[in-house]
Amino acid sequence: MNPEAIKETVLFVDDEESILDIACTYFRSRGYQVLTASNGREAVDILSKNRIDCCFTDINMPEMDGLELAEYIRKYDNTMPVVVMTGYPSLDNTIQTLKNGVVDFLIKPINLSQMEICIQRVFRERKLFTENIILSKEVEGKARLEKVNNELMCKNKELGVINRIMSDFSDLHESSDVFNQLVDSAVMLIHADAACFYLLNESTGQAIPIAFSKANNFISSSGSPKQVNACDSSQLFPLSEDPQIHTLVFDVVKDDQPLLIVENNGSGCLPDGILSFMLVPLKIRNKLMGILSALICQGECRFSEKELYYLSFMANKAASAIESLALYENIYNNLLATLYAFVKAIEARDPYTKQHSNRVTRLALAMAKVMGCSSEEQEILNVAGLLHDIGKIGIRDEILLKPGRLNSEEYDIIKQHPVIGADIMDNMGLWHREKQIVRCHHERFDGNGYPDKLKGEQIPFLARILSIADVYDAIASDRAYRKRMDESKILDIIFGGAGSQFDPAIIDVFRRMLESGEVAHVMADAD
Ligand SMILES: [Fe+2]
Repeated sequence: MNPEAIKETVLFVDDEESILDIACTYFRSRGYQVLTASNGREAVDILSKNRIDCCFTDINMPEMDGLELAEYIRKYDNTMPVVVMTGYPSLDNTIQTLKNGVVDFLIKPINLSQMEICIQRVFRERKLFTENIILSKEVEGKARLEKVNNELMCKNKELGVINRIMSDFSDLHESSDVFNQLVDSAVMLIHADAACFYLLNESTGQAIPIAFSKANNFISSSGSPKQVNACDSSQLFPLSEDPQIHTLVFDVVKDDQPLLIVENNGSGCLPDGILSFMLVPLKIRNKLMGILSALICQGECRFSEKELYYLSFMANKAASAIESLALYENIYNNLLATLYAFVKAIEARDPYTKQHSNRVTRLALAMAKVMGCSSEEQEILNVAGLLHDIGKIGIRDEILLKPGRLNSEEYDIIKQHPVIGADIMDNMGLWHREKQIVRCHHERFDGNGYPDKLKGEQIPFLARILSIADVYDAIASDRAYRKRMDESKILDIIFGGAGSQFDPAIIDVFRRMLESGEVAHVMADAD
């Protein structure tokens, strides 16, 4: 049979067997599935075992009457239509059946075709009712989906802010960068009009504003958010010195808890110009280091718990960054001190080379400054200068300390020291640029140096500076195999080497420094 031809299942409940027989015969012939029961109790039993689409019931029946059955069905499945058939209609019965969710009321004797019209109508209504429920669920589902979607978008946005904070603090090189980043992030990411970091002075108990940033459209309308140091901040941002704000800062110091003032209610707690305000402590290993503040002075936005969370998260990330930088600087300085101790030990083996690396470094740095090298380049040159001969640690004493000239075999061994030195530094995993300078400090401008025979600008600029300082100190000092050269010979070697051994442009600078007496001054200071 075509599944579409299968009609619904109808349950007839009546204590008159003849009515059940007629209904059964008629509706089966119309394609319906028909089940019958002689009272409410039997009907309940059938309902528990079969899927019923509609129920026709008499009212007056033994054991369980039609009204009780209708009430049972309403609780059991409120989508199932119940039609009451009675030969004794009364107002009370009618009211009660309607209360029990009965959808229609037929009066006996019942016309079969009228009954069928009733069945068709209740099924149509039931279908509409079911569709309505499905539709309502769909609408509800869509609303829920939209809510979840909005929540997801919010979470995504929050995650974006958290990621941005994490990346902002992951690549900083100095502690002072951390404070500037902190106030910049507060302005950029939580849309504060201004932010200020107060450093806590433990001995005086003062909170000193050391970093400050403001939004483009706040006070000044030009440029990106500006950072200013402590002395400028009071001029650009008088609020950082405001006594009411300082009172709040000290409250946070005392209570060790973040502070959020969503709205300035004019109680005098906040200066009049501030609409919304936050303070969070910055602690390193549980010790309070300073306080970060953020404020809103214009517009409709106000800070909430979410912004307070972001600000606290920033303070935590800044604390971790400061701790890592301090640890790194400590390790770095320890390593440099250890390696320099090796250099000193090498120099101590030969009294003639005592302080050589120190003098070379001072002289090279003086030249670098005159030539306008950046502070980063000077720091690189400082490390490379101090460690430039560390490779000599691998050279045997009988060669390193040999009085008199070296034979070619011995000279070849000595020539390995730039490579040995660069390898030692390479193993430390630090100082890539410094390592290159150490490797190249015996290269010559004409390409006849060692170990790589680099030429001209192939040799790192700082190595070209170091090479002049190195040679100058070597020939201007006493050595195991000879005395200090006289001045004219020194000048001949240095200036004669312009373009062959040395970079002529740097030699020009060195000449001016010699003539001005600066070289002598640096060398005297370094001893
Ligand atoms: Fe050397």
